[in-house]
Amino acid sequence: MRRLFPVTDETAAGAARQEGAAPDGAGEWSLAELAAVYAYPASGDGGPRTWLRANMVSTLDGAAQHGGRSQPISCAADMRIFGTLRALADVVLVGAETVRQEGYRPARARTEFAAAREAAGQGPAPAVAVVSGSLDLDFSLPLYTSPLVPTVVLTGADAPADRVAAAERAGARVIVAGEGRRVDPRRAVEALAGLGYVRQLTEGGPRLLGQLVAAGVLDELCLTLSPMLTAGDAQRIAGGPGVSLPRRFALASLLEEDGFLFGRYRRP
Ligand SMILES: NC(=O)c1ccc[n+]([C@@H]2O[C@H](COP(=O)([O-])OP(=O)(O)OC[C@H]3O[C@@H](n4cnc5c(N)ncnc54)[C@H](OP(=O)(O)O)[C@@H]3O)[C@@H](O)[C@H]2O)c1
Repeated sequence: MRRLFPVTDETAAGAARQEGAAPDGAGEWSLAELAAVYAYPASGDGGPRTWLRANMVSTLDGAAQHGGRSQPISCAADMRIFGTLRALADVVLVGAETVRQEGYRPARARTEFAAAREAAGQGPAPAVAVVSGSLDLDFSLPLYTSPLVPTVVLTGADAPADRVAAAERAGARVIVAGEGRRVDPRRAVEALAGLGYVRQLTEGGPRLLGQLVAAGVLDELCLTLSPMLTAGDAQRIAGGPGVSLPRRFALASLLEEDGFLFGRYRRP
């Protein structure tokens, strides 16, 4: 993997090291190196502050999935970054449709990150927080019955009472963060912060991400640009009603491997 931005002496040295060490292309960055690049920002007093980042993958022509999944447009390096971002996070916020389509399982504890998580005061793995109005979720799945950290279900005040009961019976922590059956994106972020989950990661999907963008609560986008074209009518990474004025983000870092670009963009 190569760092394209920011351009520093370390970039050139790193590139040379990568090329020198791995002419066969096996010179992937260690997980510790990736974790350093993607570290969450600290607040002024040195402690963590509430920070919501998204991690998404898109093709060159803007598709966020192929055949209903993101795996066909991803790659091994993307999955390493995906795993690193999870390992840095307190919580993974995700829309119910992504949970259903991608067959979400609980986040796992990774020995490579165990010491860093303990030092940062984090549990062994991030909690998963599922956003759903219908609660049409299969609460018999391991995501709800046997996570390392209880799964959070964010829903609206009028969520079906029997489904709330089913979620709680399974072991999930149900949190009301909106009126009717809608979750208010800002309330969702605040509710998670209230549980101590300030290093937040959303993995979409596009309908949820669009609302987080529109509500102005997204701090950072980690975007994998996949060197693929798919045409068709796939969703793009953020959907729903558009914002009145385009929101400008600033490039924080850009990595490259095998033609895939891994950008990190922050709210200025
Ligand atoms: N390219 C990528 O990086 C990436 C990442 C993630 C997913 N994907 C792909 O995106 C697709 C799924 O994404 P999606 O956009 O269709 O769905 P999504 O955002 O994952 O989930 C939408 C569902 O979340 C719940 N929801 C969202 N906002 C809500 C709100 N404000 N209040 C209450 N509930 C809310 C609703 O669930 P209920 O219906 O239960 O009420 C809604 O149906 C899949 O094909 C997946 O592979 C791609």
